[in-house]
Amino acid sequence: QRIHLVAAARPNFMKVAPLWHALAAAPDFDPVLVHTGQHYDVNMSDAFFTDLRLPEPHHHLGVGSGSHAEQTGGVMIAYEKVALADRPDWLVVVGDVNSTAACTLVAAKACFPVIHLEAGLRSGDRAMPEEVNRLMTDVLADVLWTPSPDADDNLRREGIAEARVTRVGNIMLDSFELVRPAIEAADVPAELGLTRGGYGIVTLHRPSNVDDPAQLIRLVDALIAVQRDLPLVFPVHPRTSAKLHQNGLESRMLRAGLTLIGPQSYVRFMSLVGGAAAAITDSGGLQEETTYLGIPCLTLRENTERPITITEGTNRLVTPETLGIELHRAVSTPRAVRAKPDLWDGRTAERCLADLRRRSGPARLPRAL
Ligand code: UD1
Repeated sequence: QRIHLVAAARPNFMKVAPLWHALAAAPDFDPVLVHTGQHYDVNMSDAFFTDLRLPEPHHHLGVGSGSHAEQTGGVMIAYEKVALADRPDWLVVVGDVNSTAACTLVAAKACFPVIHLEAGLRSGDRAMPEEVNRLMTDVLADVLWTPSPDADDNLRREGIAEARVTRVGNIMLDSFELVRPAIEAADVPAELGLTRGGYGIVTLHRPSNVDDPAQLIRLVDALIAVQRDLPLVFPVHPRTSAKLHQNGLESRMLRAGLTLIGPQSYVRFMSLVGGAAAAITDSGGLQEETTYLGIPCLTLRENTERPITITEGTNRLVTPETLGIELHRAVSTPRAVRAKPDLWDGRTAERCLADLRRRSGPARLPRAL
């Protein structure tokens, strides 16, 4: 069975890696890695391939940055050529980036089956480009591998047949377990002069937070206020870096004492997360990683497509105005020992393979259920 695995942007790599390793070790599968090139900087892409021991991609589409239409269209044009020449038995797409939706649409029209890994997540907010990608991908994908029961409920509510859905758990945590020894051996907080348990880690890159200068200024003011009580380290995403620079905000944060650094590799970033008293973020993945590690997470968004991180985890939605008080509450309350969400156990790739074998066997499901 030839399986195309699409990796496009930073948050994809830790979802693709565990499945890649499991497929590559199985005699009945021939995995083919396709990198669309949505992220291309060394520290946004290559560093993750090294940390997660991914090989050079078999196909590199080199699409790069652009408007939504340029990027989505560019991936479709480039991937269609590869897909038609290579005719995979299955395409696996992960997450919710533009490349995820683009490759799914190509496969749906070329009539080969698609699996969406991390299916069913919904923020309910169509102003978020990822929500549009999630909706489109899930309606077209033949098989939906979900991380949590809320995702199953969303798909059921949208009328998707149960037979298309398999709950496999949270694949990203397989990556964490895969490289846990390297994460534990790295001491990035010490390297940056930070005390374990005595700092907060910040990430921000959502267009809704960083593209509007008024919102960005509110966020920077809130972070500067927090910095007076809790030193902050902020690995800055390229999109955010450009916006901070345009608005003259980098120097204000540096003067206030924040530690601003470039994007970090997976191992270095998780070393920083592991030593943090709390995370302040608008990322999707970090909401899950902090729940897994039992670290308080303050999410600067109005909604989340990952509600289980609130109901069963350490996450809380905040605004720039409530960040200070909520952070204070989170770090001054003793950390509760709680069970991790069901199937967030580092063994999701195994379940994916079992489902793939079941669906590829004699009882193969008809398409377009
Ligand atoms: C994309 C995803 C988002 C994900 C995020 C993680 C979509 C719609 N968005 O957003 O879901 O959370 O990745 O980072 O697919 N840039 C570089 N180097 C790179 C990549 C990007 O400098 O390697 C800069 C470019 O100026 C680019 C900007 O960052 O225009 C934004 O990149 P893009 O991939 O369009 O979106 P992200 O904001 O990264």
